Amino acid sequence: MNETLNTILTRRSTRKFLNKEIPEEDLQQIIQAALHAPSGMGRQSWQFTLVKNREKIQTLAAAIERILGRPGYDMYRPQVLLIPSNKKESPYGREDDACALENIFLAAHSMGIGSVWINQLQGICDQPEIREILTSFGIPEDHVIYGMAALGYAGDEKAPKERIGKVVVVE
Ligand SMILES: Cc1cc2nc3c(=O)[nH]c(=O)nc-3n(C[C@H](O)[C@H](O)[C@H](O)COP(=O)(O)O)c2cc1C
Repeated sequence: MNETLNTILTRRSTRKFLNKEIPEEDLQQIIQAALHAPSGMGRQSWQFTLVKNREKIQTLAAAIERILGRPGYDMYRPQVLLIPSNKKESPYGREDDACALENIFLAAHSMGIGSVWINQLQGICDQPEIREILTSFGIPEDHVIYGMAALGYAGDEKAPKERIGKVVVVE
């Protein structure tokens, strides 16, 4: 099996992160992977915001915890948070950002870095407390967030999971 396929087939979501810094060079390569994702009509109307300050990440997690009423929600305390955002009116924003997120997860995994999709901002980006934090991160007011990548070295190991999706071949 080639290296790319092996990366795809062995990636798993990580929900336990070690307190260990990710080298800057690796972060830059993960961002390059995000920037090279396909986008509808090649519009690239996204922004990628890398939050390296763990206190600021936890400030966002605490706001989500309050707004969604999920006591103890801590976003798994990742080392960094990479946030693709996209113009609200972009017709392909959701799909574009999902493509970018998968590139992020695969690039991270290829470097031994764990990741998980964080979905909680869908629908609450414009809650004032959340928007204030996003603005402080430099995310434009007209951008929404469909998913975020929590990244860090995994504190657990996971075997590949059985895949049950149906496949149909028409000859
Ligand atoms: C659209 C989407 C939303 C997700 N949201 C979350 C989330 O908010 N929190 C979480 O822990 N995992 C989230 N996940 C990760 C899935 O739970 C995970 O990919 C799935 O259980 C399969 O496991 P695997 O990634 O280890 O293969 C999300 C995945 C997708 C594609």
